[in-house]
Order: sequence, then C-alpha cells, then structure tokens
Amino acid sequence: MKTISFPRKIQKHLSKLKRAGKTVGLVPTMGALHGGHLSLIRRARRENDVVVVSVFVNPSQFGQGEDFRRYPRPFARDKKLCEKEKVDVIFNPPPQTMYPKGYLTYISVDRMSDVLCGKHRPGHFKGVATVVAKLFNIVQPDRAYFGLKDFQQARIIGRMTADLNVPVDVVTCPTVREKDGLAMSSRNVYLGKSQRKNSVLISEALHSAVDMVKCRKAKNADKIIEKVKKDIRRIAGARVDYVDICDPETLEKKTVAKPPFVILAAVRIGKTRLIDNVILLK
Ligand code: PAJ
Repeated sequence: MKTISFPRKIQKHLSKLKRAGKTVGLVPTMGALHGGHLSLIRRARRENDVVVVSVFVNPSQFGQGEDFRRYPRPFARDKKLCEKEKVDVIFNPPPQTMYPKGYLTYISVDRMSDVLCGKHRPGHFKGVATVVAKLFNIVQPDRAYFGLKDFQQARIIGRMTADLNVPVDVVTCPTVREKDGLAMSSRNVYLGKSQRKNSVLISEALHSAVDMVKCRKAKNADKIIEKVKKDIRRIAGARVDYVDICDPETLEKKTVAKPPFVILAAVRIGKTRLIDNVILLK
C-alpha cells in the first residue's frame, strides 16, 4: 500500500495504471475509520482493480465553533485498517495543498444544500461538494463510494456529479450500525457512557416510525415527526435540530408518509451532533 500526500503525485501514479486499463474506485473519508467506512472500502475492493481511500479532514465543510480541531485523527490506525482491507493507495493531503493561498473556487448545489443539515450548518455542503469535486478531479475514479448514513450528502454528490457531467459512477451503500442500532460514526467517540447508551433511542424512534407506516397505523407526516421528536427527547440533554420526512430523490418535504420516503433526524447530545435516517422505498 502506498501513502501519497500530493495531488500531482497521485495523479501521476494513477495515470500509469489507468493507461494499463485498470479501473479505479475512490472512497472519500475524513479518517477515524470504522465499520461504516470499511463497508465502503470492501465494496470498492470487490468492484475495482485499484482502490484509493482519501483521508482528509476538510476544513471548508466545518463551520465556526464546530469540531474541526478536535475531530479525531488516528492516522496510524487508519493506515493499518486500510492495509488489512488491501487498499492500494491512501491519499492524505495536507490542508494547504488542497486550499493553497489565494484559493477562491467553490461548488454549491442549490436548494438541496439549504434544507435539513444545511439549514443548521450553513456552508457545510458547499465545502463537501467542493472537496469531493476536487477529489474526483485529482483521482479521476471510475466509481466513488458514499454511505447512506449521510443521506443528504449522498444525494447532493449525486446531483453535482450529474449536473456537471462528471464521468464517475456514484455508488451508495447502506448504513452500518452498532449491535444496538446506533449508526456508526467517527463522532460517536465523543459520547459519554450514559449518552452512548441513550443514543440508541434515535435509531429506535426512526425505525418505529417506519414500522408505524408499514402497519398502516399512521401516514400524517407531522404526526409521525412529533412522535419521533417526543421519543428522542427522552434522551437526557438531547436537543433535536430536525426530524423530517422527505422525498428520497429531491429531499423535498412530504406531508404524507407514503413510500418512497426517507425519515431523517439530527440530534445534539451535549456537544455531539448525531444524524441518522431510515429509508422506505416501497
Ligand atoms: P466521513 O464522515 O469520514 O464519511 C466517509 C464516508 O463514509 C461517507 O460517504 C459516509 O456516508 C460513510 N459512512 C460514515 N458512517 C457510515 C455508516 N455508519 N454506514 C455507512 N457509511 C458510512 O462524509 C464524510 O466523511 C465527508 O463529508 C467527505 C465525503 C469525505 C468529504 O469531506
């Protein structure tokens, strides 16, 4: 496995392999790898000749007062995990290589970026779309892998890729959960013991909402949302940023919870912001 830190170097390395007809799969991450990331890496490993994992805590997607500085960066451990998964290249650029002095260019995906998490984290998805577009240009993968745990992000990247005619297949992968149902996240390490225990109520509330729809016990979106909020507020110290029921393609709000839909939630427990969602297609 190679570790490459500079865009020019990885471009040179990959162009040789591509000329030899090899396919390239990219898994963009911010490191602190867990089972969710590994599921993306394993799928990329199955579907491509060459697997590139980027490990870059992207400053442009963090707002003022967010956790950019304290975001976990266990790079030696990440490297070991990648090695074990037979990753070919880790790309870990220093921030000043990605955003050198004088940097001015950003990508925004209108409308979809201003709802849900975008409402509570202004500028976040502009940072995400920009860094992903840069990674696509640097690596020029055939396929790129994203988790549905970050549902809005996956949809925004899909939209950006289609709108800008980027020749990359965006592959989305299901949310990987801990045994008790909590969606895996690099931020879960911030949770204290009792916060961690209580955080399971988020996924339970979302799944029970979907079960209610499946059993035809409810379909009014507002009522379902209120019930989910009430369930989540049982977590001590929890503040709900939002719970919404949306169209899984456009992210527009739905008033009737009729499949296909996605129910999404963002919750702050103490200083930790957790997101989760459950999709019901049919
Ligand atoms: P990060 O949070 O490190 O996540 C990297 C990828 O792993 C994303 O596609 C995310 O959706 C996926 N992922 C995280 N937790 C998951 C889980 N429990 N199950 C399945 N997939 C999961 O998302 C980012 O980084 C950044 O915004 C990035 C796209 C790298 C741009 O900076």
